[in-house]
Amino acid sequence: MKIAIIGAGNMGGATARGLATGTVFKAAEITVSEPNKETLAKIKADVPEINITTDNLAAVADADVVVTAVKPWLVQPVIEGIRPTLAKRRPLIISIAAGIKFADLNGFLADDTFQLVSVIPNTAIAIKQSPTLIAFNDKVSDENKALVKKMFDELGSAIIIDEKQMAAGTAVTSCGIAYAFEYIKAAMQAAIELGFYTRSAPLAASPSRV
Ligand SMILES: NC(=O)c1ccc[n+]([C@@H]2O[C@H](COP(=O)([O-])OP(=O)(O)OC[C@H]3O[C@@H](n4cnc5c(N)ncnc54)[C@H](OP(=O)(O)O)[C@@H]3O)[C@@H](O)[C@H]2O)c1
Repeated sequence: MKIAIIGAGNMGGATARGLATGTVFKAAEITVSEPNKETLAKIKADVPEINITTDNLAAVADADVVVTAVKPWLVQPVIEGIRPTLAKRRPLIISIAAGIKFADLNGFLADDTFQLVSVIPNTAIAIKQSPTLIAFNDKVSDENKALVKKMFDELGSAIIIDEKQMAAGTAVTSCGIAYAFEYIKAAMQAAIELGFYTRSAPLAASPSRV
């Protein structure tokens, strides 16, 4: 079984690297497509067996599973660009994009008969510790539901929800966590500006340490 991952940024890159070390796909069955050649080269350096390309159409040509992991406003042009091949191969489509609903994907595909999955991981996917929210449309087979659950269980833990819970779930598990990190970063920055030093600084060089 082959998988194409379109977009190799935070989410797509971590998904590709993580899946390459899992049991669902062999690394050689994974193709990553992305316009940035440096990003692709880093993935290839990390996992030499992975296939890389800058051509989305080539990536999906023989894919059984297609993951779109681009910014939400790029999902439509990306899907429209590969639509003829998707129409022929009918792969399972997994969308990683905040705020993109099944109705949107059906519109971009100009077809409402695809098996669609909406997935929201968080940044912990980079260390295979992401709680990942997953919603299936009503076309997804039980076999594919099990496949997707296994994929994301191996990248953390998969949590199956209804599509209507996705926006609230995204706020809690993804954006909410990001805000908490921003708060911690701001508190650390404030401490540094007030003369506190990190633990790695030698005691003698930390006059404000009490
Ligand atoms: N980051 C998070 O914590 C998080 C959490 C949950 C969900 N998400 C969702 O995940 C999706 C991806 O987010 P991200 O943080 O991974 O973004 P990202 O780091 O910007 O990754 C997106 C990647 O897509 C590439 N790209 C741009 N145009 C493309 C095209 N036409 N074909 C193929 N690849 C293309 C970008 O390349 P360039 O950089 O060269 O443009 C970039 O490497 C978003 O829709 C977001 O809503 C993100």
